Amino acid sequence: MSLKARCQPFARYVQAAKAEGYYPYFRPLAQSWGTEVEVNGRRLIMIGSNDYLGFSHDPRVMEAAARAMRHWGTGAGGSRFLCGNLVLHEVLEERLAAFVHKKKAVVHVTGFSTNLGAIACLLTPQDMILCDRENHASIFEGCQASRARLVPFAHNDVEAAAQKLASIKEKNPHSLVLLITEGVFSMSGDLSPLPELVQLKEEFPDLLIYLDDAHGLGVMGPQGRGTVAHFGMNSEVDFIMGTFSKALASVGGFIAADDEDVLEYLRHHSRPLIFSAALPASNAATVLGCLEILEQDPDRVPRLWEIVHRVQAGYREIGLVTGESKTPIIPIYIGDDQKAFAFARDLFEEGVFALPAIFPAVPKGQAVIRTAYMSTHEDRQIDFVLEVLARLAKKHRIRADDLIGREQFLSKGGYSSQSLRI
Ligand SMILES: Cc1ncc(COP(=O)(O)O)c(C=O)c1O
Repeated sequence: MSLKARCQPFARYVQAAKAEGYYPYFRPLAQSWGTEVEVNGRRLIMIGSNDYLGFSHDPRVMEAAARAMRHWGTGAGGSRFLCGNLVLHEVLEERLAAFVHKKKAVVHVTGFSTNLGAIACLLTPQDMILCDRENHASIFEGCQASRARLVPFAHNDVEAAAQKLASIKEKNPHSLVLLITEGVFSMSGDLSPLPELVQLKEEFPDLLIYLDDAHGLGVMGPQGRGTVAHFGMNSEVDFIMGTFSKALASVGGFIAADDEDVLEYLRHHSRPLIFSAALPASNAATVLGCLEILEQDPDRVPRLWEIVHRVQAGYREIGLVTGESKTPIIPIYIGDDQKAFAFARDLFEEGVFALPAIFPAVPKGQAVIRTAYMSTHEDRQIDFVLEVLARLAKKHRIRADDLIGREQFLSKGGYSSQSLRI
């Protein structure tokens, strides 16, 4: 089969969806004000962004980025390994390590490449990886590249993880086992059962735990220090990975740990770190600017939670089905893919920007509209969104009583593995 023949059916499917006005992805934003964006000359309220603290438009953060750009230029000019390692990267690593209460951190150019590079270079084909099925695609890519044996367990199912770990250890008592999970899951918005997972170390003290906290950083814990700080488990979690592309309003990623030898090895073996150009200075300075505000402004994170609680109550009142979310990510269960596309199109027409997630991001027939809120949302914007959602929920019959299959969505482990997550 030619390459064209392989790709054409999908291209036609996208073309047809565009022609019928249902295609919601890759929308070009003409301008952004953070909580509002302009698309095709229309201003919409954004309820899909991961910019949870609204830092991407904070004047202090923007000024820090501009200053760094004037000082170091727009690009680093090479990989960190060679000529692109800026003083700013090292300052940032120190600040990040302190922020998540670890000894050292290593910054990469994206969160994706952090997971890919770290997991791939630290593990070997002799090792085992216990992996939550709902983990991000970058984690699965890292696992695959490492060629370690991948042992997935049902989402957030500690019992299943414990059984699989016991079985691994029985057959391979000396093998290195890394358990990988996320702090806050990016589609369902639920939290990892970190204290229970950490307890597995009591029976298996050499178990290593790796937590991807892309969506927990800046959101969970005191001053937004993350899910590990939220549970007070800083010394029990061996690796904390985070991204700058969510609450830290930039791009980039890092991995932090207490074992300096392991991080020194990683710094010299993570292929995306060695073979990709370094993070531009403006992105590093953006993150430093965000950390400074987080450490000094006591209101930013509580305001986010105030909005989240208000929206959760509003969704309940409307009768929306939202699963186990306990965070600013609140999926609205729709079920049928076509219905989700129609709902998203109507939202757009009414002035609200949120996107549907369909298979393989979620299991077949379990489509959701992924909504996410920001600390900079104003009350009037939330009022408007709730009013639109209430009207459309009635029109599309997506309130709890109208829906078929919602029990499956609400049961644990509803999402698929290796999902194409946002
Ligand atoms: C859980 C998780 N890990 C890693 C990533 C990758 O982060 P980045 O956008 O920095 O590449 C994402 C982003 O979607 C994510 O949701």
